Amino acid sequence: MFRKKGYLIICGTLLFIAWNAVLIFVLLGRSPGNDTDESVLPKKDPQNDDVVEKLLDVISAFEKELEAQNKILHQIQSYKYFWEELKKNGTSLRRKLDAVSNVTNFRSKLQSSGVVIPILVMACNRVTVKRCLDKLLEHRPSPELFPIIVSQDCGHSQTADVIASYGSQLTHIKQPDLSEVPVPAGHRKFQGYYKISRHYRWALNQVFNSFSYSAVIIVEDDLEVAPDFFEYFKALHPVLKSDPSLWCVSAWNDNGRDGYVDPAKQSLLYRTDFFPGLGWMLLKELWVELEPKWPASFWDDWMRHPNQRKDRSCIRPEISRTLTFGRKGVSLGQFYDKYLRFIKLNTEFVPFTRKDMSYLDKRNYDQAFEKEVYSAPLVAVEELKNGKLSGPGPFRLQYSSARDFKTLAQGLGVMDDLKSGVPRAGYRGVVSFFSLGKRVYIAPPVGWTKYDPSWS
Ligand code: UD1
Ligand code: MN
Repeated sequence: MFRKKGYLIICGTLLFIAWNAVLIFVLLGRSPGNDTDESVLPKKDPQNDDVVEKLLDVISAFEKELEAQNKILHQIQSYKYFWEELKKNGTSLRRKLDAVSNVTNFRSKLQSSGVVIPILVMACNRVTVKRCLDKLLEHRPSPELFPIIVSQDCGHSQTADVIASYGSQLTHIKQPDLSEVPVPAGHRKFQGYYKISRHYRWALNQVFNSFSYSAVIIVEDDLEVAPDFFEYFKALHPVLKSDPSLWCVSAWNDNGRDGYVDPAKQSLLYRTDFFPGLGWMLLKELWVELEPKWPASFWDDWMRHPNQRKDRSCIRPEISRTLTFGRKGVSLGQFYDKYLRFIKLNTEFVPFTRKDMSYLDKRNYDQAFEKEVYSAPLVAVEELKNGKLSGPGPFRLQYSSARDFKTLAQGLGVMDDLKSGVPRAGYRGVVSFFSLGKRVYIAPPVGWTKYDPSWS
């Protein structure tokens, strides 16, 4: 039904434009060469040109308006159809429910097809932000769907010049408060962490409150993104929206060093209880929850605390979609030389938006994950390290205390720190990685129920 109306509108528009074109032609557009009777011609005068220009402006504005109205009409008509289905007499409850679910599907399709997810780049005083921006622009599939906002702290003018040199390819905003942050005694050396936290709060408020976006991907200025970075986040946006046990999607695998990931599993994704950061997406709802209590410093470890995490998980990839090149950062390369610089960046494009992501939903995932992990044979770390195990695995190594975990992790070269009791990249206490060509799970005993935040 709405097709017919749409047709009428388009025909109307065309007629309207044609009519105006004829009018313009008749009134003003006759060229002297076509009519030799100079006396009947209006003199070529700039005022006429003005009128023509204005008319053209009006026509093009009118066209745009019609186009927008047509879209709205399409939506209304589709809802109306479902609504009428619902009202029909004698319709069974089953059919009514189907109709409701159709509306919901339709709406989520409408929203996910054109959802705009901005990239918020956090910059300060490093001109190397260029590497980050060049890669974002190289791989960005659409400037409309992925607008880039660079938020700059620190007032560093050379860095500001680099950012400004990208012109209209991005939006450059500047954190206005460059004062020192008052810090508790003994925390002067942590001033940088206080500034980062202040900047995050300001920048996220800009994204959600001033620009009114409903989601954002945060990228720090020392991250380089993979070719399928945007594809990954686009595919996982609906997953994040529909599963309340998720609170983020991250591009980062904390144990994603070369040799520690399966190079053949570019499309493998996991749930993780450890907040990875380093290229991550959140929704506005989460920001509304966190903003009022946003911490003065160490925002990432604060996120990892049970008071904030509330048992929620993130999605992370087997192979990272970001790498960090920022050796000289605020944390003075605490982990950089030991782990971070070896993180492998994915190079092959995975068409995530065409893949089924439903396995990541908690209702499907947990059971399958437990089965996969706990049906793997329990082995001793020496067997693994001495090459005594045959086949590709998976194999399981068990830990029962923080100390056990650290010994195993150190022996195998995976990250050994625990934050609020959660190991890096872990899910339900399990850390999955690759070792000497075999899949290995470091896991707590069967029947795990919760983390012990005192484990650190
Ligand atoms: C580490 C984390 C980082 C986290 C930070 C805060 C890693 C590899 N990095 O920072 O994800 O955000 O701790 O806990 O785990 N910045 C400002 N203002 C400043 C200084 C820095 O906005 O005054 C910005 C930088 O541009 C950058 C971000 O904050 O985008 C992190 O700074 P960086 O110097 O890279 O610190 P890391 O030690 O990596
Ligand atoms: Mn950094």
